[in-house]
Amino acid sequence: MPVSKDLKKNVMILRAQIAHHNEMYHGQDSPEISDAEFDLLLLKLKEIESKYPELVEELSPSQIIGSGFTTFDPVTHRVPMTSLDNAMDMSELQQWGERASKGLGGVPMKFACELKIDGLALSIRYENGVLVQAATRGDGKIGEDVTANIRTISVVPKELKSKSNKKIPSVLEVRGEVYMSMVAFEKLRVAKQSENEKRIAEGKKPEAVPANPRNAAAGSLRQKNPAVTATRELSFWAYQLGEVVGAQTFISHAQTFEFLRDLGFPINPQAITVSSLPEVIEFCSNCETNRHKLDYEIDGVVVKLDDLAQREQLGFTSRAPRWAIAVKFAPEERNTILKNISVSIGRTGRATPFAELEPVVLSGSTVSMATLHNREQVQLKDVRPGDTVVVRKAGDVIPEVVGPVLALRPKNSKPWKFPATCVCELKSTFVQLEGESDTRCVEPECPFQRDQRIIHFASRGAMDIEGLGEKTVFALSDKNFVADIGDLYSLTIEMLLQLDGFAELSATNLLTAINNSKSRPLPKLLVGLGIKNLGPAAAESLARRFDSLDAIISAKPEQLSEIDGLGDVIANKITAWFADESHQAIIKKFRSAGVEFGNLVVSSAPQNLVGKAVVVTGTVEGFSREGAQHAITNRGGKSPGSVSAKTFALVVGAEPGASKLMKAEQLGIAIIDAAGFLELLETGKLPKK
Ligand code: IVH
Repeated sequence: MPVSKDLKKNVMILRAQIAHHNEMYHGQDSPEISDAEFDLLLLKLKEIESKYPELVEELSPSQIIGSGFTTFDPVTHRVPMTSLDNAMDMSELQQWGERASKGLGGVPMKFACELKIDGLALSIRYENGVLVQAATRGDGKIGEDVTANIRTISVVPKELKSKSNKKIPSVLEVRGEVYMSMVAFEKLRVAKQSENEKRIAEGKKPEAVPANPRNAAAGSLRQKNPAVTATRELSFWAYQLGEVVGAQTFISHAQTFEFLRDLGFPINPQAITVSSLPEVIEFCSNCETNRHKLDYEIDGVVVKLDDLAQREQLGFTSRAPRWAIAVKFAPEERNTILKNISVSIGRTGRATPFAELEPVVLSGSTVSMATLHNREQVQLKDVRPGDTVVVRKAGDVIPEVVGPVLALRPKNSKPWKFPATCVCELKSTFVQLEGESDTRCVEPECPFQRDQRIIHFASRGAMDIEGLGEKTVFALSDKNFVADIGDLYSLTIEMLLQLDGFAELSATNLLTAINNSKSRPLPKLLVGLGIKNLGPAAAESLARRFDSLDAIISAKPEQLSEIDGLGDVIANKITAWFADESHQAIIKKFRSAGVEFGNLVVSSAPQNLVGKAVVVTGTVEGFSREGAQHAITNRGGKSPGSVSAKTFALVVGAEPGASKLMKAEQLGIAIIDAAGFLELLETGKLPKK
């Protein structure tokens, strides 16, 4: 088929787009689109070029890598630093394997499987065992000289010494990935955010905070002042050899790893060698499932042929080796349009801004909303309706707006202003109390708060009433069938049948679920009441000490505050809650409905944290804030709110508190991530380094 003018034009546009995004990524460290979106553009171009080979040009981005942008001294790679072709799913991996097998005439193959570290490729050159140069990949042929910055990375050997007295080659180029660990990234982000808070207080504009560890690593690597790079705690994994002169002959990739390990290079411990594609597929799927247990980000798996003679036989295309492939995971970060910022009202009146997004698929689910946490966060991130924003959803974690893509901000956009009044029909004025980051609606009759209190009561962590979700609560509230949590127990089948979508069976099921909830354990009932700051851990301690709701109601605040982890503030809140007339009416409704006030269920978790204080900061993946503390107290441990010399470990989640982190570092307290926390809960011991 002849090539149409339109197609030629489309190819030109695609190439220009790819070149632009390449430059933004490699040259400016300021990508405007996600890796996945970039890959899609490239894939589109490659598809057209493979259909119409006459359109292929030597300078097409499909044929070259990187943008060639240079601000540091140029370094010509003696052995080019090629990129890798991608497999977007297992069938593409299978096809690659079959192609390789065919190319080798069907001989058996061994596959070296490694994590695809989400950092920056680097080539480090040693002459007679001394580090003489370190260069970025650049366009694959010419990179940038970042030697001074690389010298600041502690895990990179500056001089080579063989542990087994092997001969040191006269020239050795070691290739690998520079990356920033999650802990180092969180520290940098916290530091940048507090700098920005200061800037805002001084009336200055906040500065961009790196969106992810990769961008942070790129920014740190490109610092003109190595002293700044030195503060960034960059790390390095070696994964390939470049030019080598005067070394032993290597026959396998595994052997090169042994050699590099012997010389003191960090080799990722997850790397394995397998003998079949099904084993490669299993490795990929395990890595994707467990990717968030690592203290660094990965975006896929790299599969390489282990046998170096087989590599030689297969060779390279113009872009990449035929003997390796990058298996990409589903993207966790994407750009999308922030359509609007709205405010939702929680059960305690907290007003939480959230982003309404043009839907995007992330980690396998469609994301159209994301929390913006509070007023300060919107100000700090400076996201505005109309902005293109980076959205991230890592695994099961709640989706997050990372920040705006400033280069794509529409002209005349203005900072978003937090509304002055509640969004409910009562329109009460929002308040922000001194020292609190939250903005609140303090009108007790606010219908949004009322509905949220009922939703919370029915939720899994509380009375676990199956079938009583948000939608049903809103419908019940619209019909004025429920005004508080006590009213749930006087709902009738006739009432439920008046709701849209309810029939005899679904109505009976819901009534049964409500009835079953009457015998929930006391801690669940206590959590369901929605007393501010009374989470599952404190509720469990309360229930253990007092045995029944009536005993708690008649306890004095002094008696309550004696309980571990409760303190005066929560004790007073509990007393005040039960003293409120409207709450007494709820208790009365519970009593006449036959809700159990004294069901005690003892925790079955192993008591392996007795006597240990474990502090939690930030949101730990897989746990709510209170859930993480509960997991600790449930195992006999304590979970105080601050770090001291007595602290056994500090668990660091997303958005950790800077002061806790700094204090733990100062005192030499063990700092562990989500994976380490799981291990601690299981074994009662700190994870091995
Ligand atoms: S091997 C010729 N191994 O992925 C082989 N690359 O998309 C060159 N990367 O430029 C690369 N982890 O920046 C290799 N274990 C790994 C890797 C890895 C991350 C990066 C590297 C490369 C890009 C290719």
